[in-house]
Amino acid sequence: MTDLSHLRRDFPILRREDYGHPVVFLDSAASAQKPVPVLESMDRFYRSQYANVHRGAYKLSQEATEAYEDARRRVASFVNAGSPDEIIFTKGTTTALNGLASSWGIDHLEPGDRIVLSLMEHHANLVPWQLIAKRTGAELVYIPLTSEFELDLNALRATIDQRVKIVSLTGMSNVLGTIPPIQQISAIVHAQSEAILIVDGAQLVPHLPVDVQSFGADFLAFSAHKMLGPTGIGVLWGKPELLEEMEPWEGGGEMIATVGLYESTWAPVPQKFEAGTPPIAEAVGLAAAVHYLEEIGMEAVRSHDLELTAYALDRLSEVPDLIQYGPTDVTARGGVISFTLGDVHPHDIATILDSRGISVRAGHHCAKPLMADLCLAATARASFHVYNGREDVDALIAGLHEARSLFGLDEG
Ligand SMILES: Cc1ncc(COP(=O)(O)O)c(C=O)c1O
Repeated sequence: MTDLSHLRRDFPILRREDYGHPVVFLDSAASAQKPVPVLESMDRFYRSQYANVHRGAYKLSQEATEAYEDARRRVASFVNAGSPDEIIFTKGTTTALNGLASSWGIDHLEPGDRIVLSLMEHHANLVPWQLIAKRTGAELVYIPLTSEFELDLNALRATIDQRVKIVSLTGMSNVLGTIPPIQQISAIVHAQSEAILIVDGAQLVPHLPVDVQSFGADFLAFSAHKMLGPTGIGVLWGKPELLEEMEPWEGGGEMIATVGLYESTWAPVPQKFEAGTPPIAEAVGLAAAVHYLEEIGMEAVRSHDLELTAYALDRLSEVPDLIQYGPTDVTARGGVISFTLGDVHPHDIATILDSRGISVRAGHHCAKPLMADLCLAATARASFHVYNGREDVDALIAGLHEARSLFGLDEG
């Protein structure tokens, strides 16, 4: 086992007890907990370096600007971007995808064009495209999943043609854990069309090494708060020539070169896409999170996830009446595990687990079309990050046995 148990002490919140039980946090897919270096970096920044960026001739503002731009460099290096200018700071994945839809989408879509999504998209990678399809007359086309909960690549091959202008897919499903093979998908998309490939990396980037130069995507969006960083900041990475070509999706201070009464010109990329005061301390926190993950090593993060997921799938398979929704091949997935338990409502499962200090998510996970495809209203979902270990899975299993017994499932 890739033993990361020593990291647990870096997360003060995990010392908490709920209802007399030490907290077992299994909801990192919703948002991950924060280690001390992230908390301290933001505290230190606010106490000693804080000012607005890119404005002042004074020292504090220069230092704040340097810290903010250093964060951009660190994030660029984390995903191996060719230049820090390819990193746009946004509020999060949702804002990045909405920005892409309302800028690239509006400018490149006409009636008859197609936007290809999959059936396992989060609403953040679905609703923005519905809005843009309505405004442009473009059509949405969905790629189904195989019986193994993987993206149906044959269906993708059959769908991609010159009508397709945008393909936007999750890098890891927040419900099934499925990790579609982006390089292979990129080869199909780029060989059969002139479409751009957008990857929603909200779940992928926090858990796997990502190298945007070999990955095959044209744009990648992700959020700091799922990768041990703060809320309020995320990233849109884009190929430089596409960012250059793209119009800004928001106007305001910071993003202009000149402003006249009737027309303005834009600042160079990335400032062109960062209107208004950016999330400055959050960028500092994100840089600390990136540094923390780099110190562990993203390969080690992935190995830890793989081993813990394999262990969890194995133990969950011992629980009668439990159905797991996601690939059984652990290498095709990440540490996000959705399940149902007989006819017990997932909210009841979550409530019983909560009474033992165990935090899991229950609901549709912002993926209603996927739930409809699975003929489910909701699932319970356990998800991991570096601070979880086998003992957390064992606590989950014990809690599920208690739920079975409370709901009379073990009487038959
Ligand atoms: C796959 C996926 N995409 C997008 C999002 C949206 O991320 P955010 O709320 O940080 O913008 C999430 C959040 O759960 C997600 O899991």
